[in-house]
Formats: sequence, C-alpha cells, structure tokens
Amino acid sequence: MREILETTALAKVRKAVLPVAGLGTRVLPGSKTVPKELLNVVDRPIVSYIVEEARAAGIEHFVFITGRGKGAIEDYFDHHVELEAQLEAKGKTDLLDAVRGELPRAGEMSFVRQMQPLGLGHAVWCARDIIGDEPFAVLLPDVIVDAPNPCLKQVVEAYERTGANIIAVEEVPDSETHKYGVIAPKNQDGRLYEMSGMVEKPARGTAPSNLAIAGRYVLRPEIFAALGRHETGAGGEIQLTDAMARLMAEQPFYAWRYEGDTYDCGDKIGLLRANVALALKRPDLGPAARTAVEALLRA
Ligand code: G1P
Repeated sequence: MREILETTALAKVRKAVLPVAGLGTRVLPGSKTVPKELLNVVDRPIVSYIVEEARAAGIEHFVFITGRGKGAIEDYFDHHVELEAQLEAKGKTDLLDAVRGELPRAGEMSFVRQMQPLGLGHAVWCARDIIGDEPFAVLLPDVIVDAPNPCLKQVVEAYERTGANIIAVEEVPDSETHKYGVIAPKNQDGRLYEMSGMVEKPARGTAPSNLAIAGRYVLRPEIFAALGRHETGAGGEIQLTDAMARLMAEQPFYAWRYEGDTYDCGDKIGLLRANVALALKRPDLGPAARTAVEALLRA
C-alpha cells in the first residue's frame, strides 16, 4: 500500500473541531433545555469524554461549533466561582479537583456559532478561519469510544504513518448502514484501508460495504475549499462526507478501523449502555453498579 513520504516534517494535528450545534432529537425531551452534549454519562457530560479523548491524541485547541441554546457548554468549561468557593470552604477537595480538572487553559477553546442548521459539512466549514492552513481533527460528540488506545489517538497515529486525510470507521450490521456515511474500501493493510469512494446515508441495500464512518476524522485544510462549495447532499444538508469524497479525487484518503467499544450517546439505548458499561468499569463505582444492575435484572 502506498504511503506518503514527505521530505518536510509532517504538520502536527493540534486543533480539533467539535460540532455541538445539533438539536439532539433522539434524546428529547431531555435535550430540550440541556444540550445533549451535556447529558451525563456516570458523573460527567458526554462532551467531557470527547475532550479527554482529544487531549490524549495531542490536541491543544478545541473549536466548538455551537448554536442557539448551547451556551451551557461554554459555561461548563469555565470557572464556577461560587461553587468552587463553597467546595473549598467545606474542604471538599476531591470534588473541587474534579470540577477544576475539566477546565481548559486560557485561550485553549474557541466557540463559533453555526447560526443555521445547514449540516455537518457546514458546521465544520464554520471553523475555517480558526483552523487556518493546517491539518485538524473532527470529533462528533455523540459517540464515546472506550478504548485502551483512545480512538482519535489511533487515527492520529495512522495519519502520522500515511501523512494523508484519514477517518475512523467501524463495522456495523448491514441493516444499519443507511444511518451512516459508508466507505467503499479498495486495499486493506491490517486496520488501514484505501478507499475508492464514500457515500452518506446510502439507501437500504445499496451500501458499498458495512464500514461506517464513525465520527473521528483527521483532515487536511484543503477540505475547506470542497466545503465552501456549499453543495447539498443527503437530507438536503451540506454533508462532510460529500466534501471528503470530492477531496479524495485530489488527495490520498485512508480509513482506520479502530479498536474500541462504541457508544452512540445521541440515542436513548446508546446513552443507557454507556452509563452502565462505564459505571461498571469504574474502580470506585463498579462493585455497587454491578450489584444494582444484577438486582434489576433479577426483578
Ligand atoms: C454523521 C455523519 C456520518 C457518520 C455519523 C456517525 O451523521 O454525517 O457520515 O457516519 O455522523 O455518527 P449523523 O449521525 O449526524 O446523521
């Protein structure tokens, strides 16, 4: 399989785009007033797991693409002066550390309003001025991936190997492919695939494979030119998948079938699975969580 040998040092992936403007219709009515990205998984919001995963992959700057009603996400990543003062006064240092541990360093996060719900491709395009002329990551905050080597880190490592655009994929049942972007694989080298194409939300029975685009991307900045065409695709939206398919005609593009357990937290059952699975894995909560779940299953 072709690998790109660059004479100059490969640009590091330093920035990540997190599109958080979505309405969260699959977890309504709870997401009516609480952004779905702030729904708790065990004891911290979904978006906190995503930021943690991005940091583990070396990300230094986070660009949130937000929208109306999503201001609480910005507040979550800021000091809560009264709360911190109260915890301090009461000597609750564990909680204080937990609250402060989530905070970014000054200037590490940017928040951009998408203003119109025109699709994932449009959301990513809104980050163009902040990203500038360097490779960047995209993480969709619906999906928590639990993996010993964090999912985006796997993708960044594959990017460092290939020097090319690369997206995370996972196998899904044939009956589910219509819900995703799906790739057409060409050559395979272990978990790394070269592709001949990709299609967003293929009609049932028409998917080119069962490898679904899973919400972690490393893209070269030329993607913004493709996104800037504002062409609409599946669902009448500006799709990131369509822009990637266009860029694939000009640049090498790979997919990485990552190792890890995926939880779609934008979905009721996925959110429930994430809560149960991640509570069971927690050293402090695992035994009590197991007792509680087993009791429920016996009832
Ligand atoms: C988006 C992407 C799709 C991808 C999916 C993963 O779709 O457009 O390619 O497979 O996320 O969750 P959405 O779920 O926003 O409709």
